[in-house]
Amino acid sequence: MTRPPSAPVAHTPPGRSSGAPGAAFSRITGTGSYLPPRRLTNNDMVEMLAARGIETSDEWIVERTGIRARHFADDGVNASDLALPAARDALESAGRTASDVDLIIVATSTPDMVFPSTASILQHKLGVHGCAAFDLQAVCSGFVYALTVADSMVRSGSARCALVVGTEVFSRILDFNDRTTCVLFGDGAGAVLLEASATPGILAADLHADGRHLGILCTPGTVAGGQVSGTPLLKMDGPAVFKLAVGVLESAARAVLEKAGRSESDLDWLIPHQANIRIMQGTARKLKLPLEKLVATVDEHGNTSAASVPLALDVAVKSGRVKRGDTVMLEGVGGGFTWGAVLFDY
Ligand code: ACO
Repeated sequence: MTRPPSAPVAHTPPGRSSGAPGAAFSRITGTGSYLPPRRLTNNDMVEMLAARGIETSDEWIVERTGIRARHFADDGVNASDLALPAARDALESAGRTASDVDLIIVATSTPDMVFPSTASILQHKLGVHGCAAFDLQAVCSGFVYALTVADSMVRSGSARCALVVGTEVFSRILDFNDRTTCVLFGDGAGAVLLEASATPGILAADLHADGRHLGILCTPGTVAGGQVSGTPLLKMDGPAVFKLAVGVLESAARAVLEKAGRSESDLDWLIPHQANIRIMQGTARKLKLPLEKLVATVDEHGNTSAASVPLALDVAVKSGRVKRGDTVMLEGVGGGFTWGAVLFDY
């Protein structure tokens, strides 16, 4: 059954201890993003790999993935450095300042350091102190997970203005001797401000993980005894990930629509994790969505893991495609194996 857009859905309004008067929901009030300036085209990657005696081509990369370019951060530029301008952008677009924020969640698999969290570092760089701040690690599903946690905290009354960021410097964990992975990823950051609201906002979320598939996508290294142990470089069984991703993106999409009492025809926009245009278009087709409703930035950004969904959302908002009142589905899928979807009215 399709509900009218204004009807309360999925979430039962909780008793609130704080937040905007009468607020029972959370709503995205601003979006932001940032890409490091160094842009590498596929032909730049061809040249870079040729210097190592490895062959690739623009044709192979475009045909298999849809990727034409990616951005890499310079040495010494960390995840928090990319998160800062994205966060400021989101705050500005919401008409807020950092002192309004009472919760910061940063989704990243490439944190500045083992600890403290990139969220604490970001808080300090924003010049505010005292609000809750923590990192969330769900690889490429990280932003969808983080938005779901922030929504729960806002609806429960433990936060009223949450800054939710996805930021990655995946170039740091790429094996530039492995052409099957190093051409796929890029660096960047995206952010949203999520505020308490009397009207929805976030309609429903659906999150999953299946640790049986740990090995198909991992960076199996850590620090121990003052040394790196294991392999701190990304490893992926691409075809296995592809197969799983196609199935779970469809099931999460259907599950989140059902939770919200909406149907595919209510969707104005689908913004899936930006890993591969073939996976994204396949998901849109299964949901019988015209490809015009699919937001794709993978061609220009590559796969920026936890940053990919908020980056694509911000591009779609700033370009005027996603407008207030539109119904949007975000989807993540990645290492863990993790996946999930969030449905919201913008
Ligand atoms: N340039 C040229 N040839 C290449 C390259 C390259 N960069 N990489 C691989 N090849 C070759 C392979 O060696 C292989 O050659 P062979 O047939 O002679 O052995 C051939 O191309 C085909 O390789 P496959 O791996 O089978 O190619 P496939 O069509 O599966 O595409 C890809 C690979 C793009 C990685 C695809 O599997 C994919 O997109 N997988 C999903 C990735 C994804 O969704 N990730 C999301 C999560 S990311 C995260 O969580 C961090």
